[in-house]
Amino acid sequence: MVNIGAGSGSYEPVVTVAAVEPSRVMIAQRPPSAAPAVQAIAERLPLRDDCADAALAVLTLHHWSDVAAGVAEMRRVARRRLVLFTWDAQAFASFWLLSEYLPAAAETDAALAVPLALLSELLPGAEIRSVPVPHDCTDGFGAAYWRRPAAYLDPAVRAGMSMLARTNPESLWQGLGRLAEDVRTGRWQDSHGDLLGLDSLDIGYRLVIASS
Ligand SMILES: C[S@@+](CC[C@H](N)C(=O)[O-])C[C@H]1O[C@@H](n2cnc3c(N)ncnc32)[C@H](O)[C@@H]1O
Repeated sequence: MVNIGAGSGSYEPVVTVAAVEPSRVMIAQRPPSAAPAVQAIAERLPLRDDCADAALAVLTLHHWSDVAAGVAEMRRVARRRLVLFTWDAQAFASFWLLSEYLPAAAETDAALAVPLALLSELLPGAEIRSVPVPHDCTDGFGAAYWRRPAAYLDPAVRAGMSMLARTNPESLWQGLGRLAEDVRTGRWQDSHGDLLGLDSLDIGYRLVIASS
């Protein structure tokens, strides 16, 4: 497998033979045991045709300047399969943090997201699977804390969420102030009792799986 937009390799399966990542800073954070990484972009992969069984891209498509070119490159290098992990901005917009407290972040997110319709167009016949988020998710992506609202009040937690980093700070402060108040008074807990009993939730994360 080749991992495209691999970052520091957080989600890299052991069967990875090569990683492609444009940022030197991310490459430097890869553990010594990780697959060799080459500094390049998805739109121009320095890999030969059919060099791996599969090509993987996890939470990176939204950074690419040309998604169609990147997907075409993934098809070129993968003999059998493409696996993309991304999210559906429409489903994501109904996540309580965005719909009730941070509508400005929903706008940022919608502008950032790659439409699933585009991926279906580029990869006809692709299977799209939802990926529910466990209530105790240890990763720090945007919706990881859907059952732990106080986490969003912690600047260290928010620092790892690109949709918040790119949202107008004034709108963020207003929404977060209301959230802080609702958590403090128990109003959040009262109105989200349905969530407190769930172990996992579909917030819009999607796996797109296609034949090459
Ligand atoms: C949110 S990180 C995800 C990293 C890794 N896939 C993971 O899940 O841990 C997005 C990565 O995409 C990389 N990236 C940005 N533009 C890219 C491009 N045009 N082609 C490939 N990767 C790109 C960034 O440098 C960053 O490491």
